[in-house]
Amino acid sequence: MQTDTEVRVPGDKSITHRALILAGLATGRSRIRRPLIGADTRSTADAMRALGVDAAELSDDVIVTGAGLHGLHGSERVIDCGNSGTTARLLMGVLAGCPFESELTGDASLCSRPMRRVTAPLELMGATFHELGAPDRLPIRMQGGALRPLRYDSPHASAQVKSAIMLAGLTGSADVVITEPILSRDHTERMLARIGVPLRTGRRADGRIEVMLSPAPQLEAFDIDIPGDISSAAFIAAFALLAGSEPVRIRDVGLNPTRTGFIGVVHRMGGHLALDNVRESCGEPLGDIIVERSELRATRITADEMPSLIDEVPILAILAGRAAGTTIIEGAGELRLKESDRIRALVDNLNAVGVTAAEHRDGLEVQGSDRVPRGSVRVHGDHRIAMAFGVLSAATGGSVQVDDPAVVDVSFPGFWELIAELGARTRQ
Ligand code: S3P
Repeated sequence: MQTDTEVRVPGDKSITHRALILAGLATGRSRIRRPLIGADTRSTADAMRALGVDAAELSDDVIVTGAGLHGLHGSERVIDCGNSGTTARLLMGVLAGCPFESELTGDASLCSRPMRRVTAPLELMGATFHELGAPDRLPIRMQGGALRPLRYDSPHASAQVKSAIMLAGLTGSADVVITEPILSRDHTERMLARIGVPLRTGRRADGRIEVMLSPAPQLEAFDIDIPGDISSAAFIAAFALLAGSEPVRIRDVGLNPTRTGFIGVVHRMGGHLALDNVRESCGEPLGDIIVERSELRATRITADEMPSLIDEVPILAILAGRAAGTTIIEGAGELRLKESDRIRALVDNLNAVGVTAAEHRDGLEVQGSDRVPRGSVRVHGDHRIAMAFGVLSAATGGSVQVDDPAVVDVSFPGFWELIAELGARTRQ
């Protein structure tokens, strides 16, 4: 399909973190094209450098010379993971299998997020953790080393938990079997399979998803093209659904089925969203997303969908605020543990700009309206809350002031410029 407006979004955050970590653990020179160059992935790159990896500054074409699976050395300084939960949790997995002490910390938001979901299984493997501040929180000092095998039934469908255990299995040379209630994003599994790590995945008779990994003597260096981040594309798609005067094509977006729940919900809401040029590259599906302005209707988003759209709930709540009827979002308790308590932040801010919303223990409901939103929002240092309300304001001609616009640099540098450009085209 021909469209006049074509945009790209930054590289996938989850895949970029994993590429930087696995390239750092590989033997030889890896090449990472189009990574996310944002604050979160800089945290991962800085941490890998502090541990002895030769990684170039993040750019569209990054060369990483790995230290080898057992070649990291202890960092001379505390590892600051900034705002990035993925950096902290995946690194704890890596460091659990390394025979030295490490200390990790983060910003105020990250230091208020739970860490035992990762440290508990890693402790079962033999790593030790000392919480230096509040229980279950960073800063944490840890000691790694050779690890014991682990069979672990994760209570959470969390890719960070699953990936941390797999990484510990690799650096600590231990077999691991992890099950989870619903398949969480499987980028780690795909990347490991592509570089030849013995890995088996499947569904158990009781319905749980299982992944089994055996240690590899070394990791092969690799080249990877990172697709655009569907979690960033969702903001642009939402803008086009609400405001686009012509279809918008978002090029080369990652379409891994563990990440595409947003698309299904948009279809249910009556949104015109199509896929084009769908193909596979470096073990991950990708393609173009084409979106047109649409009349939306309310929907119900349920617990079983949550892992595939967890990071898109903020922007889905904004779409709900413009859809006919009342949208219910349930089974979303994990949202309270993200970069902010996203349930509370969404409900408070929606109400603050004139959209009726109510908070539930594990979700929220939002009443659609076509009133022009006005008011100030507090984003609590959360990039996705900032972008969600940025879209609402720009797409409706509203006047919503975001208290900390710079926070979008965590995952989507250039967001405000892109939205302004799309807005200008819409008004032409
Ligand atoms: C991520 C996993 C998800 C997601 C986060 C990134 C990852 O968190 O919300 O933004 O890259 O593994 P959980 O693993 O806690 O569900």
